[in-house]
Amino acid sequence: MNNFSELIKARRSVRRFTEETLLPEQVEWIVKAGLMAPSSKRSTPWQFVLVEDKEMLRQLSAAKPHGAAFLKECALAIVVTANVTESEAWIEDAAIASILMQLQAEDLGLGSCWCQIRGRQTENDTDSAQYVRDLLQIPYPLEVLSILGIGHKAKENTPFDESHLQWEKVHIGRYSL
Ligand SMILES: Cc1cc2nc3c(=O)[nH]c(=O)nc-3n(C[C@H](O)[C@H](O)[C@H](O)COP(=O)(O)O)c2cc1C
Repeated sequence: MNNFSELIKARRSVRRFTEETLLPEQVEWIVKAGLMAPSSKRSTPWQFVLVEDKEMLRQLSAAKPHGAAFLKECALAIVVTANVTESEAWIEDAAIASILMQLQAEDLGLGSCWCQIRGRQTENDTDSAQYVRDLLQIPYPLEVLSILGIGHKAKENTPFDESHLQWEKVHIGRYSL
């Protein structure tokens, strides 16, 4: 895709994927997008754990009871972590890196979805971030923000419908009710 506005519109959360794996160069493009993300004071606090192993993907999909099942099906999961001692804005830094990787995936014709981990619980009421940390041996002081599930789309998504734009949330000059 060579039109940024179209890319923004086309990116929708994709939770159903085909069995097809990703090419190494596709993975490289996506990760490069994360590594090029802006960060507070150029702190680059993020670290990304790439998972393609099916059994590990299945275990990641159990990180929380709702909204993580799609990870079982994806070709690649990128576990987005950040070193909390390297930036007080680590959540923002990691979130920006995440959306850039999602947009790069879309630009390659791939689908992706964000799975929220920070602040979530497993079905046994333990911390989802700790569950993921234990599974992947992620040390402190890295915190886990999210897991991006990426793969070939099982079906094309409908682009964002501009008639749903919430213009009432935009205020000109000063806040108005
Ligand atoms: C911070 C954040 C957390 C999200 N967490 C999840 C999640 O845990 N599971 C999921 O299936 N989708 C998750 N999503 C995807 C949203 O549900 C999705 O972006 C929203 O419904 C809008 O749909 P769209 O992405 O297709 O435009 C998350 C998105 C964001 C930005």
